Amino acid sequence: MTRRHHLFTLATLAAGVLALASGAARAEDSVKIGVILPMTGPSASTGRQIDAAIKLWLAQSGGKAGGKKVEVLIKDDAGVADTTRRLAQELVVNDKVVALAGFGLTPLALATAPIATQSKTPMVVMAAATSIITEASPFIVRTSFTLPQVSIGIAEWAAKNKIRKVVTLVADYGPGNDAEKFFSSQFQLNGGTVAEKLRTPLRSPDFAPVLQKVRDAAPDALFVFLPSGQGAQFMKQFGERGLDKAGIKLIATGDVTDDDQLNDMGDVALGVVNSHHYSAAHNSPANKKFVADFQAAAKFRPNFMAVGGYDGMRVIFKALDATKGAGGEPLLAAMKGQLFESPRGPVLIDAQTRDIVQDVYIRKVERVNGQLYNVEFDTLKAVKDPGKLK
Ligand code: PHB
Repeated sequence: MTRRHHLFTLATLAAGVLALASGAARAEDSVKIGVILPMTGPSASTGRQIDAAIKLWLAQSGGKAGGKKVEVLIKDDAGVADTTRRLAQELVVNDKVVALAGFGLTPLALATAPIATQSKTPMVVMAAATSIITEASPFIVRTSFTLPQVSIGIAEWAAKNKIRKVVTLVADYGPGNDAEKFFSSQFQLNGGTVAEKLRTPLRSPDFAPVLQKVRDAAPDALFVFLPSGQGAQFMKQFGERGLDKAGIKLIATGDVTDDDQLNDMGDVALGVVNSHHYSAAHNSPANKKFVADFQAAAKFRPNFMAVGGYDGMRVIFKALDATKGAGGEPLLAAMKGQLFESPRGPVLIDAQTRDIVQDVYIRKVERVNGQLYNVEFDTLKAVKDPGKLK
């Protein structure tokens, strides 16, 4: 080998080593978060809301945490649990995400829980709201809410407001079971009677037959929980069948008078009293800024799903700041105990349960400046998930 050739080889090698080193440095300078959402299918509004909230968070934060660039990979599961599980597996194994997030429906969160446990990947539930979810994996942290948390307040309000006999109507799966159980027991504890417990299927519900049963039972009020996205269709049929005119009061969780659809529901929604953890009309400087920034960027009103997504990003980013970008158990530990002012009000990630503790508001649908809003008129402070107090 000539001396010249030798030098050339060395130079090529050195260049190769340098290129490798800088490639490695680049990879270490960024971290990935894998978000799985129903962007299509019956729960697409949940995906659209959370996607917009994540984009707003990234724009406001500059997309950096713990000194690293944060890359968010958004995947569409169309609301199908087998797809959620497969996408989660790919995000963990191939993309090496430091956290999983999203989860638009309870079955999608439950299907992914074993992957979070096995890979020790923190999993932030931004939407799904059955009480049991946080117990499915020690790596789950929730920034949405639980149905027991929001159902008790409206039960107490009803009992105190001359409502004696109620029929309940819920979607027939996890969160519906929670809503039915916790509303009914709290209402009965306060002296009320639950005359009938009705359920509709999660997929393609037909409200006509159950509304006929409600009419026949003639209760003082109908209590309803349906997942985000079904409220407008239900409200339309409630009005068309004249149940409001028949003197049956409608009470609900705020999933039914969802800010995503509320403004298009019309007069039938006016006066509906409900309880929930977020209203776009929540009167605080933090929320006014959130709603204005969100609407400017997304061109629609944020709902409670958007806030779950926005706060979920906050929890992940602050935890990455604390671990300087490391994942696994340290990242999970840094999520526990976070206490902050959300657009919804003050919130805490309970270090023991990994679930969210938050204020729950009693609200009434009113027309404000020509638009329909859930106007808060009473507050239950710092409510823990009652599903875990047994
Ligand atoms: C759920 O599947 O856990 C869920 C979905 C939408 C809601 C509430 C709960 O509005």
